[in-house]
Amino acid sequence: MNDKTLLYQVTETSKYMMGFVLVTRQNNVIVIDGGRPEDMPLLKEVIGGRHISGWFLTHPHSDHISGLLDELEKNGGADFDIGAFYYNFPPYSLINTPDVPDRAYFEEEYNEMLPAFERIMPAYREKCHILRQGETFTIDECGIEVLYTWHDGLVSNPMNDASSVFRISGPNKNVLFLGDLGPDAGDILFRESRDLLKSDMVQMAHHGHMNIGMEVYAAIAPEACFWCCHDWLYNEPVVPKYLSDTEKLTRMKRIRMYGTALTRQWMDLLGVKTHYVTMNGTNCVEI
Ligand SMILES: [Fe+2]
Repeated sequence: MNDKTLLYQVTETSKYMMGFVLVTRQNNVIVIDGGRPEDMPLLKEVIGGRHISGWFLTHPHSDHISGLLDELEKNGGADFDIGAFYYNFPPYSLINTPDVPDRAYFEEEYNEMLPAFERIMPAYREKCHILRQGETFTIDECGIEVLYTWHDGLVSNPMNDASSVFRISGPNKNVLFLGDLGPDAGDILFRESRDLLKSDMVQMAHHGHMNIGMEVYAAIAPEACFWCCHDWLYNEPVVPKYLSDTEKLTRMKRIRMYGTALTRQWMDLLGVKTHYVTMNGTNCVEI
């Protein structure tokens, strides 16, 4: 038995990824995403051979799940002792959705990770738990509440907006995981669940940029934030280059996209004093 419930925010080996490891008092772990293949050695080090009671996957993008898929494909995940996978991804067949604002981008999104996921995961079917919005369950001393799963019709930022949102509560603190949720899904989360959002800590959506609106963070009212950000992203200019072509963004119906600098200003306005950023190394917090 451990005397504390510890959450590790694993630092980036590949620049721009997300990986968390929670070690329970029974010395099992919960993994959230994990990053790319390059991030697997450090992830394995933090897991330290412990039993993985639940491996949560927020959404099918390579900076979150390509490391896990690579391990499963390589040797059936032999370096991990995985009890269960928790996720809810849109099916690849939705690539045929008509009337999307930018067909090439939409298909690129569906082709990034979903074909590999749908090829690899059937072998683990009996270990897969599909998350449902509104469900709650426990893993050891931790409570899990699912606040959002993908909604049909969000086609301008399809994979980020398909992120599952869940809160993990330890004996002392809780953490809201937002995956890479964007502005449109953030609106739905706010509309459906605004009274459920208040949390002690929050994983900043989509690495802190092009993410949910300030009203959602105001409802969360966190005391601490986890930023999965390397230096170039945490300290980027107020209007970063990739957001300077506003005509293109409008064409793609990606019209409320802002950089990390603005999100950081919001958190200052909300009075948040504690920030854990992956650029500073692996962070460890008791929950
Ligand atoms: Fe991401």
